Amino acid sequence: MKIGVLTSGGDAPGMNAAVRAVCRSALYKGMEVVGIMRGYNGLLNGEVIEMNAKTVSGIIQRGGTCLYTARCNEFRNMDGVLKGKKKCEEMGLDGIVVIGGDGSFRGAADLSKAGIPCIGIPGTIDNDIACTDYTIGYDTAMNTAMEMVDKIKDTAQSHDRCSVVEVMGRKAGYIAINVAAAVGAEACITLEKDYDLDEIARRMIESKAQGKTHFIIIVAEGIGKTDYITKTLQDLTGVESRATVLGHVQRGGSPTLRDRVAATRLGYHAVELLEQGIGNRVCGFRKGEVYDVDIQEALSMKKPFEDELYDILYKTAF
Ligand code: F6P
Repeated sequence: MKIGVLTSGGDAPGMNAAVRAVCRSALYKGMEVVGIMRGYNGLLNGEVIEMNAKTVSGIIQRGGTCLYTARCNEFRNMDGVLKGKKKCEEMGLDGIVVIGGDGSFRGAADLSKAGIPCIGIPGTIDNDIACTDYTIGYDTAMNTAMEMVDKIKDTAQSHDRCSVVEVMGRKAGYIAINVAAAVGAEACITLEKDYDLDEIARRMIESKAQGKTHFIIIVAEGIGKTDYITKTLQDLTGVESRATVLGHVQRGGSPTLRDRVAATRLGYHAVELLEQGIGNRVCGFRKGEVYDVDIQEALSMKKPFEDELYDILYKTAF
C-alpha cells in the first residue's frame, strides 16, 4: 500500500508529531508514504515528498508543520476533488490522512466519496471539533496563553490596571474559558454566553471598594470587540484599562506532552483504518479512548460549551 499525509487549515502544535506517527506507523506496516505539501494545494499541484523514517526524525518536539499548510479554495468544488482523485491515482495512493479542522474534513469526505479513502485527524488549537473531546494543539495553545496572561497580570498589578486579554478562538470559547479559569480572571467573555458589561463593571467596582486593585478579563477572539470592551470597562469603573491581543503566539511553540501523545495515538489509529481499506472517518477521543466516526456524522455534531466551568468561574472570580 501507499498512503499520503497532509496538514490543512490553521497549523497547530503537535501536527508534526501526528505526521511522524502516520509516517512511522505506515512504514512499520510495510506501506510506502508520501508527504503532501501545503494541504490540498500540494495534492492538486503534485507537490509531494517521499518519506522515510529519517524524514520525520527530530520533528516530534517542533511546533508548526513540516509539511506546511494552507486553505485550498479549489478543493471546495467537485472539479477540484476529481482533479485530486486523478492525482492520487497517478501517484498510486491508496489513501490519505488529513490533519486539520472541520473545513479540511469536508474535502476528505468528498475525496473519500470519489473513491480515495481519507481519514481525518483533528488538529486545531480551538478544540472546536464536535466529534472529539480533544484536538491536537489545544493544550499547548492554552498553556502558552496562560503563561502570557500571567506576565500581563504582573504589570496590571503593578499599575493598578485592568487588562483585557483577547485569546484565539474564531467561533469557540474553549481556550478563553479554560485560560480564564487557569489565571483566576475576573470575567470571561465568549460567544457561547450572554454577557453584560454593566454587571462586570459593577462587580469590579464592588471589589475595588473592598481593596482589589487589578483585574484580568479574558475575551474570546470571536467576540470581535476587545477595544470597545476595554474602553467601556474603563469608563464604567474608572480603572485604567489596557487591551492585549495575544494572536498567533498561541499557535506556535513546542507541543506539550499531551499534544504529542494525542497526535501519536491518532496518527497510529488513522493508518490502521487505511490499512483495512476504510475511509471517510475522523479519528478522535471519547472519554480518553481513541475512536473513529463517519465524517458526515462528525460534521453534523454540536459540541457543548463548558457551562459548568463558566459557572464556577463566575462564582469564584471575586
Ligand atoms: O482555527 C485556529 C485559529 O487560530 C483561530 O483561533 C483563528 O481565528 C484563526 O485560526 C486565525 O487564522 P489565520 O492564521 O488564517 O489568521
